[in-house]
Amino acid sequence: MELIDGHGRVATDLRVSLTDRCNLRCQYCMPAEGLDWLPTEETLTDDELVRLITIGVEVLGIRDVRFTGGEPLLRRSLPAIIAATKALPSKPRTAMTSNGLGLKHTAGALAAAGLDRVNISLDTTDPATFERITRRNRLHDVIAGLAAARDAGLTPVKVNAVLLRGINDREAPDLLRWCMQNDYELRFIEQMPLDAQHGWNREAMVTADETLALLGEHFTLTGLDGRGSAPAEKFLIDDGPHTVGIIGSVTRPFCGDCNRVRLTADGQIMNCLFAREESDLRAALRSGASDLEIAQRWAAAMMTKLPGHGIDDPTFLQSDRPMSAIGG
Ligand code: GTP
Ligand code: 5AD
Ligand code: SF4
Repeated sequence: MELIDGHGRVATDLRVSLTDRCNLRCQYCMPAEGLDWLPTEETLTDDELVRLITIGVEVLGIRDVRFTGGEPLLRRSLPAIIAATKALPSKPRTAMTSNGLGLKHTAGALAAAGLDRVNISLDTTDPATFERITRRNRLHDVIAGLAAARDAGLTPVKVNAVLLRGINDREAPDLLRWCMQNDYELRFIEQMPLDAQHGWNREAMVTADETLALLGEHFTLTGLDGRGSAPAEKFLIDDGPHTVGIIGSVTRPFCGDCNRVRLTADGQIMNCLFAREESDLRAALRSGASDLEIAQRWAAAMMTKLPGHGIDDPTFLQSDRPMSAIGG
C-alpha cells in the first residue's frame, strides 16, 4: 500500500507533531499568553505514536520521519520515540524541527538515539530583536543549541528564519553571514497564514523576491537545480561552498511536488498543512482497529488532498488549527 492522492502525488515524508506546547511565543505563531494546550488524554501516548509511525513506515511506504511540535524537545520521551523509529526494519531517515532551547543538553543523546539531523528556527542574532519576536530572552540558549547539534553530528544543521517587515528584514544579510561562518544552512521562509491570532496579511509578508533582492545587495546568488520535493529553492552564495534556501510557500508554491503528510499530537492525519478536514486515527486506535484497518483509513485520508494551498483564492479560509498544533 502507498499514500497516493487523487492528483498522483505519493507521500513518503511524515511530519509527526509530538506536542502542541512551546516555550517561546513567536509573534507570527501565537499570542503572548500562549494557547489552550491539548489535554493529556487527547494526546497520543508514546506507544500509540510509535504504532502509527510503524504503520506509516512498514505498511505505507514512509521513508522520512520528521519530529515537530510545538516544540518537540518538550516531550521527555523524545529519545525513546526516535530510537523506536530508527529501530524499524526499514530504517527511515529521521529529522527534527525545533526552536533549539535546551538542545545543548540533549543533542548528544538524540544523535545516539538515531536522530540524523535538525532544523532550528532562528530569525535574528540580535538579542533585542530575538526577544521582540519570540517574547523571551533566550537567544544565547538557541545559539548554544545550534553549536551542540553541529558538534553532535546532527548535520546538515539548517536554520529557519521568518522575515518580518521592519523588525528583522534588514538583518537578513548579517544572519546569512553568521550562518555561513558557523556552517549552518540558512533558509528564509515566507510567512504563512497559520498564526493562531489570524493576523496574517499578504501585504505585510516579506516575499521571496524581496528577500532575494535584499541578499543580492551583498552576495551573488546562483540558483541550483535538484530541488525535488523540498520546499526550499537553493542558491549558491558567491563562489560557494555555502548555500542559502528560499522557502516561498506563498508566492512560489511547491504543492505540485508535495510528498508530505502530517500526524498531529492528538492523532489526526492532515494531508496538507492547509487541510480543513482531518482523519481521526486516534479514534481508530482506541476503538481497537487492526494495523491494516488503520493503514486503510490513513490511505483513504489522502484522497481529499487538494491540488494546492489556495491562499490566493478569494474563498481561502484559514484553518482553525494553528501552526503550533500542526508542526509546520
Ligand atoms: P528539509 O528540507 O527536509 O530539511 O525540511 P523542511 O524545510 O521541509 O522542514 P522544516 O520543518 O524546517 O520547515 C521549513 C518551513 O517549510 C516551515 O515554515 C514549514 O512550515 C514549511 N513547510 C514544510 N513542509 C511544507 C509543506 O508541505 N507545505 C508548505 N506550504 N510549507 C511547508
Ligand atoms: N509562516 C511560516 N513559517 C512559520 N513558522 C512558524 N510559523 C510560521 C508561519 N506563520 C516556522 C518556524 C519553524 C518552522 C516549523 O515554521 O519558524 O522554523
Ligand atoms: Fe514555538 Fe515554533 Fe511557534 Fe515559535 S514558531 S512559538 S518556536 S511553535
